[in-house]
Amino acid sequence: MKDFAGKVAFITGGASGAGFGQAQVFSEAGMKVVIADVRKDHLEEAMAYFKEKGAPVHALELDVMDRDAFKAAADETERIFGGAPDLLVLTAGVNTFGPAEASTFEDFDWVIGVNLGGVINGLVTFVPRMIKADNHGHVAVTASYSIFGSTPVCAPYGASKAAVFALMESYFVALKPYGIGVSVLCPANIRSRIYEAAIKTRPEHLKNTGYNANEATQAFLAETHKHGIDPRELAYRFKKGIEDDVFMVVPYEHAEQMVSQAMARYVDYLTPEGMARLEEKQKSPPTEEELKLISEREGYEIKPGAMFTKSDVGFAKARSDIDWVDPSKKA
Ligand code: NAI
Repeated sequence: MKDFAGKVAFITGGASGAGFGQAQVFSEAGMKVVIADVRKDHLEEAMAYFKEKGAPVHALELDVMDRDAFKAAADETERIFGGAPDLLVLTAGVNTFGPAEASTFEDFDWVIGVNLGGVINGLVTFVPRMIKADNHGHVAVTASYSIFGSTPVCAPYGASKAAVFALMESYFVALKPYGIGVSVLCPANIRSRIYEAAIKTRPEHLKNTGYNANEATQAFLAETHKHGIDPRELAYRFKKGIEDDVFMVVPYEHAEQMVSQAMARYVDYLTPEGMARLEEKQKSPPTEEELKLISEREGYEIKPGAMFTKSDVGFAKARSDIDWVDPSKKA
C-alpha cells in the first residue's frame, strides 16, 4: 500500500502508545481514521488532540475481546466513513509479568484474549469486508520483539505474540490473491502506557492473578518504558514497511543482525551439543556486541548485569501466598 490520502484506517488500541502514534501518522498522511479502544479516558485524551487538529478521526469504545461489539464497530465505520477500512491496524495489547509456573487461567485468558483473541476477532470481522470491498488494502498488526524469544516471566504474553506472528504468516499468503498486503510490527521497548494495563485496564472478572502486580511494580515498569522508542517514530517506520510491502518490520537499524542472532538458537535446540552450547551461553554474560543490540532495542545503554527484571519492588515475581513457587521467585 503506497497511497494513503482519502482512505480509511481502523486502529485498535488507537488511543494510546503505539496505536496513538499510528493514528497520528496515518491521519497526517490524509487518512480518515477510526480509533477503537477499551479505555474511555485514553479515547478522550486522544480525541482532544485530533479535534484540535480538525482531523477526520472517529473514536469508538471497543473491547477487542467482544465479537458483537467488533461487528458493531465495523458497521459504524462503514456508516461514518463510507466503506470498509483500507488499512486495518490491530495494535491493542496488554502485558503482565510473573514466573510462568505462577500463572493462573485468568492470566492466560486476559493476555491471550486481548493480544491474540483481539487480532483474531479483528481479522474475522474485517477481512471479509475488505475482500468484498476489493480495495487492495493492508492488514497491519503490532506483535512484539518477544516473538524472537520469550522470557520465563511473561509466558502468556510471549505465547500470544508468537501465535499472532504465525497467524499473520498464514494471512500474508492467503490474502495475496486479493491484493491485500500484510505486515507485522515487532518492536521492543516503546514509550507507552502499557505499564497501566495490569492495574487499570484488566477487567474485573479476569483479575485473579498469580503474579505480584501492584502500584509499585507498575511504577517500576513505567520507568523502563520512559526510555522506549517514541510511538510516532515507531509508526513512521511501520508505515515505511507497509509502503515497501515487507511482511516483518523490526524497527531498528541493525534489524537483520538482531533477527539472525535470535534465530540461531533454533539450531542449537536440535542436538545435545547445541543444548550444551546454549546452557553455556546462558551462564555467561552477554558480549559487548549483544549488549549494543539490546541497548538499541531498549532505547538506553544496558550495562552488564543490569537487565530490567532486577527490581527491589518485586517486579515479575509471584504472589507471595503461592506455595509451590521457589521462594526466590516470590515477592
Ligand atoms: P498502551 O497501553 O500505551 O496502548 C495500548 C492501548 O490498547 C491502550 O489505549 C489500551 O486501553 C488499549 N487496550 C487494552 N486492552 C484493550 C482491549 N481489550 N480492547 C481494546 N483496547 C484495549 O501500550 P502500547 O505499548 O502502546 O501497546 C500497543 C501494542 O504494542 C501492544 O500490542 C503491545 O503488546 C505492543 N508492544 C508494546 C511494547 C512496549 O514496550 N510497550 C513492546 C512491544 C510490543
